[in-house]
Amino acid sequence: MTGLFITLEGGDGSGKSTQLALLVQWLEDSGCVVVVSREPGGTELGVELRNIVLHRRGEMAPRAEALIYAADRAHNIATKVRPALARGEIVVQDRYIDSSVAYQGAGRVLGGDEVRDVSVWATEGLTPDLTILLDLDEVTGKARLGERTAFDRLEAEETDFHARVRAAYLHLAAEEPQRFLVIDAREPVDLIAEIIQQRVQTLLPSAP
Ligand code: TYD
Repeated sequence: MTGLFITLEGGDGSGKSTQLALLVQWLEDSGCVVVVSREPGGTELGVELRNIVLHRRGEMAPRAEALIYAADRAHNIATKVRPALARGEIVVQDRYIDSSVAYQGAGRVLGGDEVRDVSVWATEGLTPDLTILLDLDEVTGKARLGERTAFDRLEAEETDFHARVRAAYLHLAAEEPQRFLVIDAREPVDLIAEIIQQRVQTLLPSAP
């Protein structure tokens, strides 16, 4: 029995966390067993790596940053996600390989293909069944974050960086239209949740 692997992607301020919580609640209310994860930081080791990659002060070479995300991902997939999928459970995860392709590949200009290759190796090629992209322009995203007082290393990047991230996401979605569900993140929260539920419903085993 294999479960279902659903990932959420989007720029900072796109409302991923809100939609992830609503999706998990809806799945659990429907009687599904759900495992929630996030990258970076879905495991104990991952929490330490998250702290380094998001909050460490001082210089961090872009390739070092990319490898820390990949290390977090390797451990998360091997110890948490694959075992849950093998039990037939549904894994809902905040960010995955597409984040590295967008942020390190395009944002840091390391090159999407090479960055993806590292993560494909790290995860032994695990691909999501569905990836939900909450698309938001970088100016609105930044404005939404503006209510916060502290920014992590990536959030603090300039608007051009976030524009490259967004363009890379849309490019990825256009390349794999059957894996991606792209939603305008400016739509009302309830409407977005409903669109997501409708799509996920089609992936659930139908009732007997
Ligand atoms: P996230 O956990 O979504 O933080 P928040 O909920 O505060 O938005 O992601 C943390 C940051 O890490 C986010 O700015 C995107 C970045 N990131 C990468 O640059 N590469 C990656 O591979 C991943 C998974 C995240």
